[in-house]
Amino acid sequence: MPRVLWTGKLTPQIWLMLNTSNVFAWATGATRDTDAMKERVRKGYDGAFSDHVNHYDEVGSVLQMRSAAEQLRDVDVRGKSVLDIGGGTGVASFLMLRHGASKVVCGDISEKMLVQARLNAEREGYGPNLIEFCRLDAEVLPYDEGSFDVVSMSMTMGLLPNQEKSVAEMARVARPGGLVSIGAHGPDHYWEPIDATVRGMSKRYIFGYRLEFWPEKEKEVRAHMARAGLVDIMTRRVTWKNDFGSGGKAFDFFAAISASWWYGKLPPERVQEEADRTRAYFERENVRIVTDDIIVASGRKPG
Ligand SMILES: C[S@@+](CC[C@H](N)C(=O)[O-])C[C@H]1O[C@@H](n2cnc3c(N)ncnc32)[C@H](O)[C@@H]1O
Repeated sequence: MPRVLWTGKLTPQIWLMLNTSNVFAWATGATRDTDAMKERVRKGYDGAFSDHVNHYDEVGSVLQMRSAAEQLRDVDVRGKSVLDIGGGTGVASFLMLRHGASKVVCGDISEKMLVQARLNAEREGYGPNLIEFCRLDAEVLPYDEGSFDVVSMSMTMGLLPNQEKSVAEMARVARPGGLVSIGAHGPDHYWEPIDATVRGMSKRYIFGYRLEFWPEKEKEVRAHMARAGLVDIMTRRVTWKNDFGSGGKAFDFFAAISASWWYGKLPPERVQEEADRTRAYFERENVRIVTDDIIVASGRKPG
């Protein structure tokens, strides 16, 4: 079952509010409905609740690329077949091709993200001999055991209700001797815009709701990998702060990169009003700094 209490960074007031809401979500069973949670995230990235995600590449690809590059510092993909889980618009997949991967499968639960990834691949000149696309759920991978040299996931883990299951799946589809590489959301990841969004929104829509995003600590990622039977596990934490210059720009980034799937909890006619209200809060309070906190982890499948 997904965890009940938020263990990431927030201001004390919002931490208390969010965790009271989480306990309520647990008591009503909402936290256990992991299919519904996953579906809400998928629909968010499919643009079902708002059009923020349409701007994903425009406002987010530079920072996503930076995270993927950090992850790739520890991984040699030259001549290797790679599965990129939660591949989104293809940022990490393309980087791995540039680093010499022989073939990449970019897999994602959102069809809209994959449509954009296909367009990006065409523009970059990567044909089907180099990259394929697959709609998949990270928790139940549609591949046989030992199918890939490298199984990678970039900035997706925090969105999965069952993170341990997804790491076990990564290990399963890696070949013996192959590598599992993860760039996970650490405890401080995006804490400023999360805090500001909870402050800025009308609380009645989010009370009793367990946010589908869940950051991990370094030791938790290590533990998932060890339980999946991986060896030679390495983790390191990388953080940096991004200054967007204005609260409005920081909001636009956060809304696009997260796809704002929690707007699925709102009556559709209220979404624009709530988005405007939250953006105004970011502007008014000058919430322009966004922390990136990445747990870079890798482990080898014995064999
Ligand atoms: C923050 S984006 C990261 C995308 C890409 N790796 C990057 O760095 O730009 C998270 C991605 O995870 C995908 N995702 C969320 N839940 C998933 C699941 N259960 N299985 C596969 N992909 C999932 C979303 O659709 C989205 O494209």
